[in-house]
Amino acid sequence: MSNVQTMEFDPDIDIQVLDGVYEPAEDSFLLLRSIDIRPGIRILEVGTGSGFIALHCAKAGVLVTATDISPVAVETARSNAKRNSLQIDIVQTDLASGISGKFDIILFNPPYITGEDGDVLTKREKEQLVGGSGGHEISIRFLDEVHDLLCEGGDIFLLTSSQSENNILEYARGIYEMEHMLNKELFFERLSVYRFNKTV
Ligand SMILES: C[S@@+](CC[C@H](N)C(=O)[O-])C[C@H]1O[C@@H](n2cnc3c(N)ncnc32)[C@H](O)[C@@H]1O
Repeated sequence: MSNVQTMEFDPDIDIQVLDGVYEPAEDSFLLLRSIDIRPGIRILEVGTGSGFIALHCAKAGVLVTATDISPVAVETARSNAKRNSLQIDIVQTDLASGISGKFDIILFNPPYITGEDGDVLTKREKEQLVGGSGGHEISIRFLDEVHDLLCEGGDIFLLTSSQSENNILEYARGIYEMEHMLNKELFFERLSVYRFNKTV
């Protein structure tokens, strides 16, 4: 399709990360690279952290709403938006609770490690990294809760880990059509981005 733009890392976007907020990492970059956008669409990023992905989308001229459950992440994302003179609507909430309207693209780089692997982490680290006892619970809740916020023909992009993705893909079958977009092999896991489209 013409005027579709694939997102690339923009080193001119100045991201500063307050203590206790997720520093953009391999998973953030992979999710960013998998998104393609068109001017004028509406994007919802759940779990925005520093605002890294949301700010790239805003700079590309789309309307962005972003959420995070962590007050310090919301504060960080707001100050990064201001520093870069970019407009994002940033809401502190659980997933997309209280968000209304319809979105063309919905994104989430979720916490995805298992409760057991996260045993040694601090409370703040767990919030950023642990996706539930099996690592998949928060992603399943996300796919369930954002279903009605997605436009007909819209796309959800969700990052997964090979350590916890089977339950997510199993859950999504029947509700969404799925496409594997990108992956990145790391030492102990494979990160992937899947695109989900509504079937019902
Ligand atoms: C892996 S980090 C990703 C941050 C950022 N999107 C990125 O890619 O760099 C996960 C983010 O999800 C947020 N988060 C965790 N549970 C959440 C929930 N229930 N609702 C909203 N955000 C949540 C965390 O605070 C954290 O900022």
